[in-house]
Amino acid sequence: MKIFKTAEALHNEWLKLRKRHISIGFVPTMGALHDGHIALVQEAKLHNPFVITSIFVNPTQFNNAQDFKLYPISVEDDLNHLEDAGCDAVFLPSVDEIYPPDFKAPIYPLGYLETVLEGAYRPGHFQGVCQVVDRLLQIVQPDEMLLGRKDFQQCKVIEKMVELKNYPTRLTLVDTLRETDGLAMSSRNRRLTTDQRQRAPLIYKALLSVKNKLHTKDVNTIIINEIRNLEESGFKVDYLQLANAFNLEPLQQWNGENAVILVAAYLDNIRLIDNIEIEGKPS
Ligand code: PAF
Repeated sequence: MKIFKTAEALHNEWLKLRKRHISIGFVPTMGALHDGHIALVQEAKLHNPFVITSIFVNPTQFNNAQDFKLYPISVEDDLNHLEDAGCDAVFLPSVDEIYPPDFKAPIYPLGYLETVLEGAYRPGHFQGVCQVVDRLLQIVQPDEMLLGRKDFQQCKVIEKMVELKNYPTRLTLVDTLRETDGLAMSSRNRRLTTDQRQRAPLIYKALLSVKNKLHTKDVNTIIINEIRNLEESGFKVDYLQLANAFNLEPLQQWNGENAVILVAAYLDNIRLIDNIEIEGKPS
């Protein structure tokens, strides 16, 4: 597995691959890899002979300095997992490589998408995500980029940025991988204490409970009950919401459209997010 630390070195490799018409799959990550990331690499490998993963903890997407400071880092382990998964190359840039001194942060017109849910609770977060993914796409120039559906709103935002910037890169969204008790895999799970880890799957149970009652009751009442249950179990809930899966506008009731139920909640200072997509009924 090749390791590139500079955009220039990666570009030389890119030229060689292009000469041989080899397609490139790309998995952007912030490291602390888990099986969900590895599933993205494996999926990328099915479609592309050459797969690159980036590991870069992007400072501009953290709206909370403490969260940035505590973000888990395990580069050695990550490299071993990537090698085992058949990843061909890793891009491990420095902050200066991604944001050179003359870098001017563009403003992405994301509109409504960045004002709700994660956008409302983490101001500036999606601008930071767009900045880094935009830079990575300029550098890596992949044929395909793979993202996890656990970050549902992030997928929507990146789709929009790719469209705004007219990148030819194809986006593939991969299903969330869960632990046996339902907890969505996430790098932040590593920070959970044993007690928190036992309670963490309750956010998935809340999502399932809303999903299972969508047909029968007023959605707001169901959601209020589930928020209360989570809070009684020690969570601080930012949101639990049913939304239109296309534009993320909130839904007061489900009328058979493609929808998504999204949740973000803290256990102590660890913020967990998850979602379940609801397939629309044929009209
Ligand atoms: O989902 C993540 O890990 C990050 O937000 C991403 C897409 C790698 C950008 O830093």
